Amino acid sequence: MTIKSLLFVPGDSEKKMAKAASTGADVLLLDLEDAVSHERLPLARDLVQQYLKSHDRANQQVWVRINPLNTPLSLPDLVAVMPGKPDGIMLPKPMNASDVRQLDHFLSALEQREGITPGRTRILPVATEVAGALFQLNSYAGCSPRLAGLTWGAEDLATDVGATSNKKDNGEFDDVFVLARSMCLLAATHAGVQAIDTLTVDFRNHEGLQADVRRARRQGFSGKLTIHPDQVAIINAGFTATPEELQHAQRIVDAFAQSDGAGALQLDGKMIDKPHLTQALRLLATHKGQ
Ligand code: COA
Ligand code: MG
Repeated sequence: MTIKSLLFVPGDSEKKMAKAASTGADVLLLDLEDAVSHERLPLARDLVQQYLKSHDRANQQVWVRINPLNTPLSLPDLVAVMPGKPDGIMLPKPMNASDVRQLDHFLSALEQREGITPGRTRILPVATEVAGALFQLNSYAGCSPRLAGLTWGAEDLATDVGATSNKKDNGEFDDVFVLARSMCLLAATHAGVQAIDTLTVDFRNHEGLQADVRRARRQGFSGKLTIHPDQVAIINAGFTATPEELQHAQRIVDAFAQSDGAGALQLDGKMIDKPHLTQALRLLATHKGQ
């Protein structure tokens, strides 16, 4: 299943967790990391476990963002939440795929303890939060069958490199962050998993978000992180093919089917060849039954 929207929900907020269920987000990402203070972490672990146990997941997955593996907080986070059988774990600040492999081992052990089908719990690394990770993004290919996708972060990367902002004066991401974004897309493609775009912090600006989603989808991202309920519908719609797009894809497929094996054809006065056919077939496959 393609995940379009992943809504962050602070793990210590019962109110927001209750509200999150009605947002239509494909995934609720209960946060135990940056959105929760150290003092409130024990409370958050309990609330997250209870929520996992009680939330109806027929139409919505529930994932948990744990603390980074190089902190003493990550294992207690996992031990606390695995009894709730989360659908996946978001892994912040990994250096490379060896962090995913380590988490994979932890999950295998805890799945045994909890009677969860081995390998059921997926992993989503936030692959660009520390500078050194950018040099090892190729490591994710083949690292674990649990790998659900790759996403990227601009806030922590800014802190890591000592940038006072990740934006240029005109509001667009500055060079380092555009690079991180592109590298995330390439690394996800290389690993054969979904590329999931980072969040848009400016949550009252709906037109800006629409433009961000359009651009992300055009580039090859198939989902996006979000921090506010109002962003969810915009993201879900933005990553859904329009009837016109599906019709056009079907026309490309039909044109090749009727072409007696020609490799290049014309459609509406434009050349189409193999890459267009591949793209059309992929679009139709991912949006089947939509
Ligand atoms: N999940 C669920 N509910 C949320 C929510 C979220 N991420 N963000 C806001 N809401 C709720 C609010 O509680 C409020 O509910 P109410 O109408 O019942 O009072 C409603 O949606 C409207 O919220 P609003 O007043 O517009 O925003 P806010 O000031 O309450 O919250 C943030 C703004 C940024 C603090 C909040 O969106 C948030 O906590 N986002 C997630 C932050 C996070 O997890 N960060 C870590 C990852 S980067
Ligand atoms: Mg962070």
